[in-house]
Amino acid sequence: MSPDHYFSAEPSAPETRERIEFSVGGRGYTLTASRGVFSAGRLDPGTAVLLRKGDLPTPATTGTFLDVGCGYGPISCVLASEAPAATVFAIDVNSRARALTVENAAALGLADRVEVYEPDEVPAGVEFDQIWSNPPTHIGKAGLQELMDRWLARLAPAGVAWLVINRNLGGDSLHAYLTGNNWVVERTASQRGFRVLKVTRGG
Ligand SMILES: C[S@@+](CC[C@H](N)C(=O)[O-])C[C@H]1O[C@@H](n2cnc3c(N)ncnc32)[C@H](O)[C@@H]1O
Repeated sequence: MSPDHYFSAEPSAPETRERIEFSVGGRGYTLTASRGVFSAGRLDPGTAVLLRKGDLPTPATTGTFLDVGCGYGPISCVLASEAPAATVFAIDVNSRARALTVENAAALGLADRVEVYEPDEVPAGVEFDQIWSNPPTHIGKAGLQELMDRWLARLAPAGVAWLVINRNLGGDSLHAYLTGNNWVVERTASQRGFRVLKVTRGG
């Protein structure tokens, strides 16, 4: 595995400045990415499907959201822009990704509502009203299940999680795993091989 890959906690590839432009919900975004972070050349197609098919929050939505595996921050920046009364916690193991998310949120005037953390530094006791993720699949099936177990446990009782995952990279097996662990999982969209899963607590 190349040490320059985005899997690295501390990418060794020289930092670059890549301009990523996209629009979601009628709003245009220009963000900065870099080599050494996931999908530095364009908005990832899976993330695009998630942001198009998930129920984005609105100006009336309050609460605390979590973006698991934020990369350079596209999901966090969209959520915080759509929901100016909400706070978004953005987590990633990749330090360059975290730095870019801080930078992108600041450039959009969202610095006070996008809190960026190394996963182990997320304050204990915070519950999330919404969890959004285009999760890492390279960590393998067991790793992905562990990651989901860890963060879905922090979902508020009436909270909702929106996930996107490629069918060929474990989308259907993650769906089955979550259902088997008493989560209510609805496949709300399937587009270009990407499954969008809406996850809530049963009962
Ligand atoms: C598929 S990428 C999505 C990135 C970004 N959300 C996007 O849409 O472009 C998954 C991200 O998860 C991060 N990641 C990997 N393992 C992680 C872990 N255990 N906890 C949090 N993030 C992790 C990776 O560094 C990567 O940035």
